[in-house]
Amino acid sequence: MKYSLNENVKSITKEDNILLYNPVKSSWIKTKQKNVDKLQRLINSDLKTLNKEDRYLLDYLERYDIISDLDNKTDIEADSPISIYFFLTKKCNLECSFCSMNSNPNIDSSNNLSFDEIKEFIDQLSDFNIKRIILTGGEPLLHDKLIKIIEYIKEKLGTKVIVSTNGFLLSEQFCKDIKGKVDRIDISWESIYGEYKEMRDQFIKNIDVAKKNKINMNFSYVVTKNNREYIYEYIDYCVLYDAGIDLKIVSPINNGNDYDDLILQEEDVLDLYESVFEYIIEKNYVNSPCLKSIIGYTPKPKLGCSGYYKNMFAIYPNGDVFPCHSVNSSEYSLTNIKENSFEDCVKLFGKKRNTFSVFNIDDREYCKECDIRNFCLGVCAGEIYKDIESGSIKPSTCKFRSIIVNYFLWEHKKNISFKEQLNNIILKIREAKSCVKL
Ligand SMILES: C[S@@+](CC[C@H](N)C(=O)[O-])C[C@H]1O[C@@H](n2cnc3c(N)ncnc32)[C@H](O)[C@@H]1O
Ligand code: SF4
Ligand code: SF4
Repeated sequence: MKYSLNENVKSITKEDNILLYNPVKSSWIKTKQKNVDKLQRLINSDLKTLNKEDRYLLDYLERYDIISDLDNKTDIEADSPISIYFFLTKKCNLECSFCSMNSNPNIDSSNNLSFDEIKEFIDQLSDFNIKRIILTGGEPLLHDKLIKIIEYIKEKLGTKVIVSTNGFLLSEQFCKDIKGKVDRIDISWESIYGEYKEMRDQFIKNIDVAKKNKINMNFSYVVTKNNREYIYEYIDYCVLYDAGIDLKIVSPINNGNDYDDLILQEEDVLDLYESVFEYIIEKNYVNSPCLKSIIGYTPKPKLGCSGYYKNMFAIYPNGDVFPCHSVNSSEYSLTNIKENSFEDCVKLFGKKRNTFSVFNIDDREYCKECDIRNFCLGVCAGEIYKDIESGSIKPSTCKFRSIIVNYFLWEHKKNISFKEQLNNIILKIREAKSCVKL
């Protein structure tokens, strides 16, 4: 038996530390540079002559896929669980100016999948390892068969179901209907701080109804230049309702919109996170578990975003299937579920994936030289796929992403408190801001 350094292993160095990682296996280890020489020696030596400690080191490296046993090479990509983003309708009761789906109340739904076609599709999923199904849109609560679809998924697959909604159609009856069937509802808050301010009381009333019915909620907020000042009140609400928090920096992924007055610049993103983290500390929200996901990053090296892997599929209202929920132009279409089975669709993905360069981080013009690219994975492919050239432009979240990734790779200690984490990241943001100013 002989070992060799795994061919996919790459490294990043910082001072006298080195990080060895395998983006194919999504594993990594951190060690001192001097140990790499020792490692090289160990690999080349006769294993029978090694002492217990050295053998332990080799076992450890093998476990993390840094080295492999030449006699026992494993497959490159194991089948992982699949998330399905099911866009039930493009129609919406609102018409948000930034909407990535261009949804509005006047969308023609005549070409949408029928309930029978949806059931047939759900039946096909039972042959796969489905991690969760996210029912979205448009506004999924406008779909007249929503409850029946949820019930059918639970009955046939028993998988996790999440409903993504703008919250305006939540009612007592709806909450009763979904109780025990839906694992979570994700509610978008930004509209009451923008174009739909006048509907705020109704919105809060609906959230109260969901809370009273003990529905598990996650809140999200798409941050634009126009609504960033209200984010603090949104954080108060997350704490008040004990709901998971998600900040999304607005992406320019709506076809017809001019995003110039909405899009945040790099410094805006740094200022935003600095003040949000300060606010959480100032208000003593650091003990609210629901806010922890605001950082929510676990380093895992990969070759690309979810669209690169066989673990996310988006089904559009007419049955078109895409490898990502944010990328929906015809060249990325895999098939239509009215014409092909889901199994065929997964096979087609395998054949086409190498032509979808937008998901592969090594093919992103701006990111391809960045040393932490396999940990960061760049901005959402949806932001750049229509104009691949724009992949060469620095994303507004780049600096912030780099701070978070580097912090978790090199400085984070497992047992420190959430408050300490926030303070450490605030310091990193301030450092970055002072460098920009110099
Ligand atoms: C398209 S909506 C559909 C579900 C539902 N109607 C809602 O608004 O929550 C899904 C999610 O995408 C977010 N979203 C819409 N346009 C976006 C954009 N341009 N950038 C980032 N997120 C966006 C919404 O805020 C929402 O959280
Ligand atoms: S509520 Fe959601 S789907 Fe409707 S327009 Fe706004 S972002 Fe788009
Ligand atoms: S840190 Fe910036 S350059 Fe590096 S991969 Fe992320 S977005 Fe791209």
